[in-house]
Amino acid sequence: MAMAGQEATNRQIILKHYVEGIMVKESDFELRDSKVLLLLHPGNRDVLVRNIYLSLDAYLRLLLDPTADSPYDREKPFSPGEVITGYGVSKVLASNYPEFKPNDYVVGITGWEDYSVIKEASTLRKIPQIGLPLSYFLGVLGMPGLTAYAGFYKVALPKSGDQLLVSGAAGAIGHLVGQFGKLAGCYVVGTAGSEEKERIGYDDAFNYRGETDLKAALKRHFPKKIDIYWDNVGGKMLEAVLENMNKLGQIPVCGMISDYNLAKPEGISNLFHIVTKSLRMQGFAVTEYEHLYEEFTERVSGLLKDKKLVYFEDVSEGLEKAPRALIDLFEGKNIGKKIVKICDPDCKSLIYHGPTL
Ligand SMILES: NC(=O)c1ccc[n+]([C@@H]2O[C@H](COP(=O)([O-])OP(=O)(O)OC[C@H]3O[C@@H](n4cnc5c(N)ncnc54)[C@H](OP(=O)(O)O)[C@@H]3O)[C@@H](O)[C@H]2O)c1
Repeated sequence: MAMAGQEATNRQIILKHYVEGIMVKESDFELRDSKVLLLLHPGNRDVLVRNIYLSLDAYLRLLLDPTADSPYDREKPFSPGEVITGYGVSKVLASNYPEFKPNDYVVGITGWEDYSVIKEASTLRKIPQIGLPLSYFLGVLGMPGLTAYAGFYKVALPKSGDQLLVSGAAGAIGHLVGQFGKLAGCYVVGTAGSEEKERIGYDDAFNYRGETDLKAALKRHFPKKIDIYWDNVGGKMLEAVLENMNKLGQIPVCGMISDYNLAKPEGISNLFHIVTKSLRMQGFAVTEYEHLYEEFTERVSGLLKDKKLVYFEDVSEGLEKAPRALIDLFEGKNIGKKIVKICDPDCKSLIYHGPTL
């Protein structure tokens, strides 16, 4: 690794052009070599980091398209030629902030590149040493974990015995929600896109891709109907679920991934069930629940240490794999949280398997 003050080669993944209303492809990105001076100017409010793990999150797809709804106020669409940014775990090399010191590990918004000068450090958090892997702070102890935790306990409002359906059940958030459901005494059914994912440990599960009639499949799996539907996908699944909800049911809407690569979102034709069954359908954004971070970290790290919660990670190795890893989410190839490892945590060895873009 280059030393502080030296110039280093910085591999970066940049957006080549906007991707509007079609499936994102690897050729929409470019791997570029640039140079970075490993030095901070004392007058600037910057943190210089070596990136270790990158988080692949579905919302990044929306930032490739300026016509899509931006998921969070603080995230603006990328411009062609810009380095992609997203959540990552990094090691601090130099810092102008007293709260971040060299050799600290941090999690927050960083670049898809070897080194980043983070100018807006407001998203950065120092990773506490609690005996759990650094990568967990992108998943079960990071943004997806907080989404699952806040959405489940503060929006879904579960009761023991509730019939809970989770879509995207084997993804980063889904597999945690399913387990929170079991801990809360719910009967939990997951839907996912392959037989392999059905074995993730729910009371019951089915492969939605193998069903020609989703409404009938839900009837079969929920003879008592559904009390809570955790929606990660929207579209046809939401439409089928509405017919199978119990009166006074809850629909916490976490995401609608089935729409993210479409020019026009799929319409839902039977929303009147919300009226006739007095359903509560509530969208939420994790950014509204950041005040729960301490409580969430304590409870969830306790569950992990007591082995009451199992966490799945799906790791690709090499910065050059990041575009492919993002596409994997939309092709349903991930089981658990998708991350890319770009160097070892001690930052001594770079992971590189050759250019693939
Ligand atoms: N509200 C918030 O603050 C917040 C925060 C983070 C994420 N989210 C949203 O939460 C959802 C889940 O995110 P995540 O990070 O857990 O997901 P993830 O790990 O990124 O996995 C996404 C999974 O969605 C499924 N999927 C992909 N395309 C689909 C389609 N067209 N139809 C149905 N399923 C499809 C795939 O699995 P299978 O097809 O195999 O099932 C895929 O593995 C996303 O909608 C995301 O945007 C919301």
